[in-house]
Amino acid sequence: MKTAVLGSGKMGSAMIRGMLRARLCEPGELTVTNRSGRLPEALCEWAGLRCIRDNREAARDADYVILAVLPQQLPAVLAEIRDALRPEACLISIAPGYTVGQLSAMIGQACPVVRAMPNTPAMIGEGMTAVCRNDAVDEARLEGTIRLLSALGKTELIEESQLNAFIGVCGSAPAYFYMFLDALADAGVLEGLHRDQAIRFAAQAMLGSARLQQETGEAPSVLKDMVCSPGGTTIEAVAALENAGLRGAVITGARAAAQKAAQMGKK
Ligand SMILES: NC(=O)c1ccc[n+]([C@@H]2O[C@H](COP(=O)([O-])OP(=O)(O)OC[C@H]3O[C@@H](n4cnc5c(N)ncnc54)[C@H](OP(=O)(O)O)[C@@H]3O)[C@@H](O)[C@H]2O)c1
Repeated sequence: MKTAVLGSGKMGSAMIRGMLRARLCEPGELTVTNRSGRLPEALCEWAGLRCIRDNREAARDADYVILAVLPQQLPAVLAEIRDALRPEACLISIAPGYTVGQLSAMIGQACPVVRAMPNTPAMIGEGMTAVCRNDAVDEARLEGTIRLLSALGKTELIEESQLNAFIGVCGSAPAYFYMFLDALADAGVLEGLHRDQAIRFAAQAMLGSARLQQETGEAPSVLKDMVCSPGGTTIEAVAALENAGLRGAVITGARAAAQKAAQMGKK
């Protein structure tokens, strides 16, 4: 399975590392590009991995072409490769703002196009990636795409109309969790913990809580109620957080991200 990854910054490199670590492809089956043509430091451990500047050359023989450049760089890269792509090559874009229809129109042929939206925990294989596709993507290509993206963590096929909501609750969500984690650590410091201890305790509480929800499948409200003993410390905190508008703030924030993604798609 020959794969080209156009752009080898944070996300491109995370995808390449994940694919190689999971042995989804061999270094010789991958061609990576960037503007310098030099393999990024993070990828130097893999002998045989080729990094070049020429996107056309990288895309020419590829079965899968992953577009991992910034959204503003995408039109130029697509214009560069459109005549070099094999008709059956599957194009995978991870850029927000460009719909499957817009990407197909920019390529100008009935090429299989997948839009994938990862998030930053993909860098350690713990990402959540949503995927949608155009009609030219058959089941075999979809399966191949999902296999490649599984290098980033979990993957789920959704309707394109749900993608902006996905960005609001998942693509942008690591930033909200880090804000929450940072604030919780501040509270720990205020109450006398060292900052590194406070971050360690709060991060493990966050990780463990998420895993408990995944493993039990319980609604978050049920798990929250389990922590709240009558007249106890937690219900005191819950009431204070409700008074401070935590839930409303989270809903407003996630909707702002979803709405911004929708606006970017209309440009
Ligand atoms: N980072 C995230 O959290 C995240 C999450 C979800 C989706 N995404 C999406 O993933 C995509 C990549 O984001 P990123 O954070 O990885 O960006 P990044 O770190 O800035 O990487 C961009 C890469 O594109 C390369 N590049 C620029 N112009 C090029 C060209 N004409 N031909 C070939 N390569 C070119 C750059 O090469 P040089 O280094 O040589 O300039 C760099 O390797 C974006 O669409 C972004 O929206 C990112």
